[in-house]
Amino acid sequence: MSATDSLDIIRELQGLVINDRAVEQYICDLWSNTVHKFGARGTAVLAEVPGGLTVLSHSQNQWVGQTLPMPQAYDNGLAELAAPMPQGWHVLPPSAESAKGDRYYLALELHDHELANPEFCAQISDLATLCYTLIWAAQLKQQNTLLSNILDSINYGIAVSDAHEDDYPLVYVNPAFEALTGYTAEETLGHNCRFMSAEPPDSQVLQELRDTIQKPAPGDFTLRNKHKSGREFLNKLSIFPISTDGKSVSHLAATQVDVTEQANLLAEMQRSQSQLKSVLCHTAVKAISRVHAPICCEQSEE
Ligand SMILES: Cc1cc2nc3c(=O)[nH]c(=O)nc-3n(C[C@H](O)[C@H](O)[C@H](O)COP(=O)(O)O)c2cc1C
Repeated sequence: MSATDSLDIIRELQGLVINDRAVEQYICDLWSNTVHKFGARGTAVLAEVPGGLTVLSHSQNQWVGQTLPMPQAYDNGLAELAAPMPQGWHVLPPSAESAKGDRYYLALELHDHELANPEFCAQISDLATLCYTLIWAAQLKQQNTLLSNILDSINYGIAVSDAHEDDYPLVYVNPAFEALTGYTAEETLGHNCRFMSAEPPDSQVLQELRDTIQKPAPGDFTLRNKHKSGREFLNKLSIFPISTDGKSVSHLAATQVDVTEQANLLAEMQRSQSQLKSVLCHTAVKAISRVHAPICCEQSEE
């Protein structure tokens, strides 16, 4: 990967830090707007940190940055926050379903009579579940954007095909793949990648590639491919089976790198090496014959 590509990826990661703040802002706005519409007074958003919860936002701008112990006792789906938060502040912990691995906690200020009303508590819990789901969706969207930006800026060709469909049609190719092959995503998606092959159908490498795809298993191959222009190049292809449910293979992903130049350089080096060897041998034989020649003469003169 070139230095420019690494820089692109770092920029994306820096973007994530900024986006991360944007997601936090989104959560705070979402929660305070939703809860205020519902008639509640104060709202707060907290984040899980080692040793407890830290206050990220507070409707009265108080206690922001304070770390509180993790609330223990839950009643009606709510848990009271400890000091320095004043009495009446309750957190609605994310359910396992609504926030997979989330670190944000939504809190609000409640009166005793509201707390004593199970119907009110159930409604407020439902509201929190909805907000947690929206937060999770926002985070997923953010991660997807980051991943697709990384894939788009990587210097290697990347192609992904659907393993559930007949003949493994391509479902994703990155811009480096388009540059490497000369084919656009539009021209390639929905088709099997064999349109690039320049190997004889019975070549050993193609047979090994077919076996790998059929298993499916990971594998590395170096094979001749054709650019859209007709130009041949040597493709270093790596295949990886991917599972989206952790059970069966759903996709096959591949990276492609043009190694023609390296292969030419290697061949050139080997040619030079063998030329050098033959020159050295020739010189050595000549030198040896010069050393031995007088001895032979002297011997014959005796
Ligand atoms: C994700 C993926 C990417 C592939 N990329 C290439 C490639 O870049 N070049 C290539 O020659 N074959 C590639 N193949 C293999 C071809 O799709 C095809 O399986 C191979 O050329 C054998 O062709 P055949 O099925 O007609 O025997 C790829 C396969 C998969 C699943």
